[in-house]
Amino acid sequence: MSRTIIVSNRLPTKAHRTEEGLHFTPSEGGLATGLGSIYRADGNIWVGWPGLEVEDPEEQHAVTEELRNDSMAPVFLSQEEIQNFYEGFSNETLWPTFHYFSQYAVYEQSYWEAYVSVNEKFCRAILALAGPEDTIWVHDYQLLLLPQMLRQARPDSSIGFFLHIPFPSHELIRVLPWSKQLLEGMLGADLIGFHTYGYMRHFLSSVAQIIGYPSQNGLIEAGQRSVLVDAFPMGIDYDKYAQVAESPEARESEELYREATGDARVILSIDRLDYTKGIAERLRAYEQMLQLYPEWRERVTLLMLVVPSRDQVEKYKELKVEVDELVGRINSQYRTISWTPIQYFYRSFPLEHLSGLYRLAEVALVTPMRDGMNLVAKEFVASKGDQAGVLILSERAGAARELSDAIIINPTDTRELAEAMHEALVMPEDEQRLRMSNMQALVSQYNVYQWVKLFMDRLAYIKIKQQTLATE
Ligand code: F6P
Repeated sequence: MSRTIIVSNRLPTKAHRTEEGLHFTPSEGGLATGLGSIYRADGNIWVGWPGLEVEDPEEQHAVTEELRNDSMAPVFLSQEEIQNFYEGFSNETLWPTFHYFSQYAVYEQSYWEAYVSVNEKFCRAILALAGPEDTIWVHDYQLLLLPQMLRQARPDSSIGFFLHIPFPSHELIRVLPWSKQLLEGMLGADLIGFHTYGYMRHFLSSVAQIIGYPSQNGLIEAGQRSVLVDAFPMGIDYDKYAQVAESPEARESEELYREATGDARVILSIDRLDYTKGIAERLRAYEQMLQLYPEWRERVTLLMLVVPSRDQVEKYKELKVEVDELVGRINSQYRTISWTPIQYFYRSFPLEHLSGLYRLAEVALVTPMRDGMNLVAKEFVASKGDQAGVLILSERAGAARELSDAIIINPTDTRELAEAMHEALVMPEDEQRLRMSNMQALVSQYNVYQWVKLFMDRLAYIKIKQQTLATE
C-alpha cells in the first residue's frame, strides 16, 4: 500500500527533558497545528525534529519509541546543527530574506554547510523509511534542498513540496549567495505549492531569471522533467475549532478571563514572538487609539499572548526586550487603579484556553508585516459560534487574499490601524454578523482536509501527465 511520508523540520510533538524524565507536548506554529489533525490516517508517517537536543543513544531510543506510537519518526539534531542549520541558515538567513527583512539576514558559509548536511540527514532518514511507491511531501523553508536530494535517489517517486512562508520577489532571492542551489533543490519536486498566486508568480519569475527555465500555466520545463507550480491556500480543521469553542472547558476559560477583564471590551492578539508579526507596531497603534479616542480608556483591554519562539536568535532576543518595554511604558502611562490597558502573557496556551479567548474577544488583531498565510485569523473566525466579532487583518498576510470581509489594513500605517480598532469597536452587530458569516462560509469550505486533497490530487495529476509526456 502506498503511504504519504510527511516531512518538516519540526514534528507536531515536542520532547522536553524534565526531572521526572521525558515529557511530550504539542508544538506551536501553523504547520504543526494545521497538519496535526490529519496525518495519522492510512499508515502515514511524519518525519522531523522533536525540538530537543538528544545525544544519548538510550534517550534517542526512548524518544523514537514514544513517537513511533504516534506515527512519527524523529531526526535528531546536534547542538551545532541546531545553531547553524536551525537558528543560523533557516532563521537568520532564509526567514528574514523571505519575509522582506533582508537587512536582518546573515550570510555565513558555515550556516550554509550545516543547511546542506542537515538536508542530507533528512534525506537519509526518509530513504530508510520510504519505499519507491510512497508519496513524499516535504514542507517549508528549512528543507528547500531536500526534494532534489530525494529525486536523485528516487527518480520516479512522487515528491511534493509546500512552502508555508511568503516567496518574495526575485530581487530578494538573487541577493542570497546560494539562490541557484536553493531553487534547484525545490525543483526536485513534481509539484510545488504556495499559499497565494503572488508567491507562486514570484517563484516562477525567480526560476526564469536565476536558472533560465521558462514556464507556461505554472508548468516549468526543468531540463528533462516538468514541474508543476500552483497556489493552495492552507485551511484549518474548522470543525475542531468550532467544536472546541462550544466545549465546557472553553466556556469556563472565557468566564475566567471575563472576570479578570471586567466590563472592558476585549481586543485579542495572539502570535509567536517574531519581528514579522508586527507586534511592536500593533502596540504603538493601540497606544495611538487610546490617544485619539480617550473615551476607550478604561473601557477596552488589549489581551496579548506572545508565544516564545527561536529565543536563541539575536533578533528575537532584541524584540522581546522591545515588546516588554513598550508594554511597560504604555501600561504605566495609561493604567488606573482598576484598569490595565494591556494584559500581556509570554507563554504558550492550551487549545481550550485559546478557544476561550477567541470566544471572549470582540476584535482580533492579526497584523503581521509579512506572513505566509496566518492561521490564527482563521481560528478566530471558526471559534465565533454567535458570529459576532471583528477581524482586523494585515494586507500582507496570505489570509487577506481570502478573508476580504475582515477590516484590511496596512500594518505600517499606525494611524490606519488605530482607526481600524475604533471602527471595529463601534461596528454594528448586523454588519459584524454579515462579515463573519461570509468568512465562516469560506473557512469551513476550504478547510485543511480540502487543502490536502487538492494538493494530493494535483500531485497525482502531474505524475500521470509526466508519464504521458515521457511516452509521447
Ligand atoms: O510558519 C513557518 C514555520 O516555520 C513553520 O514551519 C513552523 O510551524 C512555525 O513557523 C514555527 O517555527 P519553529 O519551528 O521555528 O518554531
